[in-house]
Amino acid sequence: MVKFPGNNKINLAIFISGRGTNFKSIFNFSKKKNSILKINLVISDNKYAKGLEFSKKKKISTKVIKFVKKRDAENKILKLIKSNKIDLICLAGFMKILSEDFLEKCNLKILNIHPSLLPKYKGLNTHMRVLKNKDKFSGCTVHLVNKNLDAGKIILQRKVKVNKNDTIKSLEKKILKIENKIYPLAIMKTVKSIF
Ligand code: GAR
Repeated sequence: MVKFPGNNKINLAIFISGRGTNFKSIFNFSKKKNSILKINLVISDNKYAKGLEFSKKKKISTKVIKFVKKRDAENKILKLIKSNKIDLICLAGFMKILSEDFLEKCNLKILNIHPSLLPKYKGLNTHMRVLKNKDKFSGCTVHLVNKNLDAGKIILQRKVKVNKNDTIKSLEKKILKIENKIYPLAIMKTVKSIF
């Protein structure tokens, strides 16, 4: 039996830096009938992030936090997490690395989506490295965030076949489509395990 916090909804904060397709897919999932998810807060480190347009259109509380001084930025975020009663944080194409201090103070589970079959290809340029190594498969992973980059417990992972004629672009497109599908499922899996 799943027990949910006070208002019967799980309040999510989504962190983005760019396009925001994963954010949109989580939003659409949260709007399904009987959904227990609610996006209460969107944070971006980049004021030009495309995903911000969607967030504003949907009237979600949205904040741009510049990461000039990381500690200041993280302190601002911690306040927002508290004031918006956030239960779970989802990094969705958020390209800043959160400090260990932040992870401790925040004391919430944080999910991240990564475009590779972790533990392979942590960090950037995953598709390029997959093609260079002529891997037969690639994919995407939703994992918990811990102090080490792209190294937390894996929640959900999906494989895709790499074709001979795949390019960085075609692989990215193919994998992003799967990312958008599995992120909401990984959130539900996490929610069921913690509430
Ligand atoms: C996604 O492919 C996500 O896996 C990747 O950024 C993209 C964001 O797309 N994240 C990382 O590389 C994190 N290390 P989106 O803005 O359309 O969701």
